[in-house]
Amino acid sequence: MSILIDKMNWRYATKKFDAARTVPAEKIERILEAARLAPTSSGLQPFQLLVVTNPALRERIKAIGYDQQQIVDCSHLLVFAAWDDTTPERIDGMFDLANAVRGTVNPNWESYRDMLKGIYAARGTQASFEAAARQAYIALGAALIAAAFEEVDATPMEGFDPAALDQLLGLHERHLRSVAIVPLGYRAAEGDWLANLKKVRRPRADFVIEVN
Ligand SMILES: Cc1cc2nc3c(=O)[nH]c(=O)nc-3n(C[C@H](O)[C@H](O)[C@H](O)COP(=O)(O)O)c2cc1C
Repeated sequence: MSILIDKMNWRYATKKFDAARTVPAEKIERILEAARLAPTSSGLQPFQLLVVTNPALRERIKAIGYDQQQIVDCSHLLVFAAWDDTTPERIDGMFDLANAVRGTVNPNWESYRDMLKGIYAARGTQASFEAAARQAYIALGAALIAAAFEEVDATPMEGFDPAALDQLLGLHERHLRSVAIVPLGYRAAEGDWLANLKKVRRPRADFVIEVN
């Protein structure tokens, strides 16, 4: 079996973290880097990644996160927060960055920039946020796989009140909205009801539709 598939089988949505263990900084950096390298539509990267370590703040997040203990017992808590809108300024920010990194200005690229501004303006704020949230989930997937590679446990979570989290983290002021959180850490030696249960997935025959 490939290493990737082994690691995908190893990972699980950890229910109980060992609160005494901290994930080394270099592992955290590689997980963040995987999220940063994730592809996004038009390369806009329309989201931010917050890394929350402050214990008091995590207690407050737990209170608006269905009291899920992983939020406080983990080593680092990732918050994926999507742009609340994809504005012309934000689109310019990414296109200007691409020009600076590549050291070129390409006429086709510039007309694509203008077209994209028109598309997002017509789409409207809510649809643009939803599109941004979908991009954030691609990075979340990359982070989960990277965590598994590092043998760091991770739990993707939507079980929290996003409006309350936005308020707590001041995301509104940053023109962001929270979409998902991911505690990172190490599974506890005991006390996790899920740790030893078999992974459940639909069989391939029921999952893949072959179109020949
Ligand atoms: C978007 C999303 C939201 C989730 N929210 C929670 C959550 O709030 N709390 C939790 O313990 N698990 C949460 N999970 C974990 C899933 O229940 C879990 O990934 C799924 O049952 C598959 O099991 P496995 O990850 O252990 O293989 C979430 C997973 C995803 C992908």
